[in-house]
Amino acid sequence: MDNNKLFSPFKIKNVLFKNRIGVAPMTRVSSPGDSIPRKDVLEFLVRRARNDVSLVYTEAIVTDYESAQGYPNQSRLLTQRQIDAWRPVVKAIQDAGSVAVMQMFHCGRMAWPEINPAGRVIAPSPVTAKQDNPLTGQPYTKPDEMSRFDIHHVINGFVETAKGAVEAGFDGIEIHGAHGYLISQFLSPYSNRRSDDYGGSDENRFRLAREILRAVKAVVPDDRLLIFRISNWGVADAPVSLFDSKEQWLQMIKYLDAEALDAISVSTMNFQDRAFETDLNMAQLTRKVTEKPIIICGGIYDRITADNALQDADMVLSGKSLLLNPGWVADIRENKPLKPRTGAEADVAYTEEALP
Ligand SMILES: Cc1cc2nc3c(=O)[nH]c(=O)nc-3n(C[C@H](O)[C@H](O)[C@H](O)COP(=O)(O)O)c2cc1C
Repeated sequence: MDNNKLFSPFKIKNVLFKNRIGVAPMTRVSSPGDSIPRKDVLEFLVRRARNDVSLVYTEAIVTDYESAQGYPNQSRLLTQRQIDAWRPVVKAIQDAGSVAVMQMFHCGRMAWPEINPAGRVIAPSPVTAKQDNPLTGQPYTKPDEMSRFDIHHVINGFVETAKGAVEAGFDGIEIHGAHGYLISQFLSPYSNRRSDDYGGSDENRFRLAREILRAVKAVVPDDRLLIFRISNWGVADAPVSLFDSKEQWLQMIKYLDAEALDAISVSTMNFQDRAFETDLNMAQLTRKVTEKPIIICGGIYDRITADNALQDADMVLSGKSLLLNPGWVADIRENKPLKPRTGAEADVAYTEEALP
């Protein structure tokens, strides 16, 4: 059972993964005051590594102290204290034989002004998310259209956070370009209505992502991984397809393919869903235009779904199943019957309860 792809090693550059299984990035809103996650939240990650998860993602870390934050009590990696807090966690993940990757994001129009010192919400265009903010029960704030100054400032937040991650010893850095947060808002014609160099054509909508990627790459040593996460679904206005067509998706992947990226992480609601109007799933469609390693996530909860998802990708990530079951890798190794976990069950992530 074990000598198949799921439990086979995989290498990207000099970074060795002992199997193809990773824990997806999951925000835990557990970092009050100093933007350092609670001890039990950090221990949660180390436990996943010791339990045979080969790729351990941090939660999405917000990139500045001004306008990036969308949820209360999120983490940052911008100060020496924050770096010092992560360093032993990264080392413990590595000592367990696993790879530690820091994910970072800016929330853009999903930000919450009251919890951002600048008190502003910024986005490519003043397009407000349609539903209420589930955390406040209030409508989202109409964002300010980002100026050039804002754009440079935001890029700098990604760069500074990447530097913090390098300093803390992370093996890899992921730029969160998915789920309808800031970078995704630029990529999507739904939320990007700009008429300058950052809006309109596919090339222009990709410009911010490219500038962030290149600026971050310049501060990330070659022995660390640089990954980009992308999706066609967003947390706000969830039913909306972020890209108008498979051609737009393929164009974005081609642009990513041309960058000095080590892997593309494709986030789906369910990896088996058809991509746009095709007979392909998102990993298969993505593979049409890139040879880079593909990491796939969404709806992987047991051995069969993990094996199936991996047919078209190089690594699989599990979110909810690994959140709620620390022994998930052993369970799928033994092919135990398992059920998909629900979003409601996963809400425990946002409580003060220590997870096993
Ligand atoms: C509690 C929770 C927090 C999440 N936070 C993040 C996040 O910080 N960054 C991110 O890219 N995705 C985040 N996600 C999405 C997951 O990474 C993953 O894409 C999603 O849960 C689908 O995978 P699953 O079907 O295995 O749960 C979160 C999901 C959950 C359940």
